[in-house]
Amino acid sequence: MITSESFGVNAEGHLTIGGCDSVKLAETFGTPLYVMDENVIRKVCRMYQGSLEKYYQGKGQAVYASKAFSCKEMCRIVAEEGLGLDVVSGGELYTAKAAGFPAERVYFHGNNKTRDEIKFGLEFGVGHFVADNLEELELLQELAAERNQTAKILLRIKPGVDAHTHEFIRTGQIDSKFGFALENGEAKQAVQKALQLPNVQLIGLHCHIGSQIFDVAPFVLAAELLLDFMKEIRDETGTLLKELNLGGGYGIKYVKEDTPVPYDQYMQIVSEAIIKRCEAYQMEIPYVYMEPGRSIVGEAGVTLYEVGSVKTIPNIRTYVSVNGGMTDNPRYALYHAPYTALIANKAAEPADFCATIAGKCCESGDLIQENTMIQKPQAGDILAVLSTGAYNYSMASNYNRNPKPAVVMVRDGEARVIVRRETYEDLIRCDV
Ligand code: LLP
Repeated sequence: MITSESFGVNAEGHLTIGGCDSVKLAETFGTPLYVMDENVIRKVCRMYQGSLEKYYQGKGQAVYASKAFSCKEMCRIVAEEGLGLDVVSGGELYTAKAAGFPAERVYFHGNNKTRDEIKFGLEFGVGHFVADNLEELELLQELAAERNQTAKILLRIKPGVDAHTHEFIRTGQIDSKFGFALENGEAKQAVQKALQLPNVQLIGLHCHIGSQIFDVAPFVLAAELLLDFMKEIRDETGTLLKELNLGGGYGIKYVKEDTPVPYDQYMQIVSEAIIKRCEAYQMEIPYVYMEPGRSIVGEAGVTLYEVGSVKTIPNIRTYVSVNGGMTDNPRYALYHAPYTALIANKAAEPADFCATIAGKCCESGDLIQENTMIQKPQAGDILAVLSTGAYNYSMASNYNRNPKPAVVMVRDGEARVIVRRETYEDLIRCDV
């Protein structure tokens, strides 16, 4: 099992999460159940914010990428911790608004924001739009002018940095649908255009080089490339861009082999590189944003399931079927993502049983993990999958008309529902 200050094993041999007995949580709230530890979330928020204070003269802000896990309570926590919020759709923006999140701390991303989404963003007064393409610049100009507003923007740049991660979630290279490439002059063209638009104010640049990255070097390289571009813009146009958003992508621990960089170390190394480069260019250091999603919520989350059947196929494998699956966690089906699982009611016993954990969907690929070591399972056991706080609830579906699980927040031995379980009635809510 991976260790965390959130986890423990109590006298009954049950896994505890944030001081709560996981078996009791399953009994009280039902399964499948997402459990999130609030202390872990807040601690990581403070590590990021603190690292900007400590290593970068406080000239920066951590922005939580809400695509990792969005609900009203999460927005409230992020607001309380003083972070900004990255939203990538009208729905994420609506959630932020409903939670009373301060509009000026919202950063509106997306490679194809619709006219309605941009209007919504302008109406709400989001702090920055991260503009992705020339059509969006035109649309921003048109809609901001209609409202007599000025839209503050960052331009999404593709720095062309290979961040050594899963191919599907690598977004920094030139063959990407996101942003303007540096190499072929697209980025420069976008700057020139943005500077001409009267209702658009170009504030800075943004890049995001990938996700689940365990190395600081690609972040340093991306920062340097963007600073080089800022210098070029200054020299050619006389405009000094003031903000630099370095995106998210900081890797977390899913299995014991994962070795994440402590989250407050990124800024230590990246800030040195930024300060050095700016000195060389005689440029004021930019206001910097870090945009973590996964690392803020990932390790804070655990999913609890009930085991329904244990089916051994001689000389092949044993399927342990649980009452959820790709509907609440599609990441193994999509990316073959690694996870650590255990039998929560047998947490003190050795994990000496090789299991393939299967979901309940009508689909052979509906697996949570293959050939992973857990305690000897039987029907009625509670199976826990760790590090499911990011991109699980937010990527959940209703395939096979399975209702989405509830999300429970735990903190110092107390538990409360922050997203209620869907009902069958919810499933037909939009049917006519
Ligand atoms: N900023 C931007 C512009 C992004 O596109 C992303 C993630 C982030 C920040 C946050 O990255 P993080 O710190 O969470 O790695 N569904 C995939 C992950 C997709 C990430 C997309 N962008 C998964 O389940 O692994």
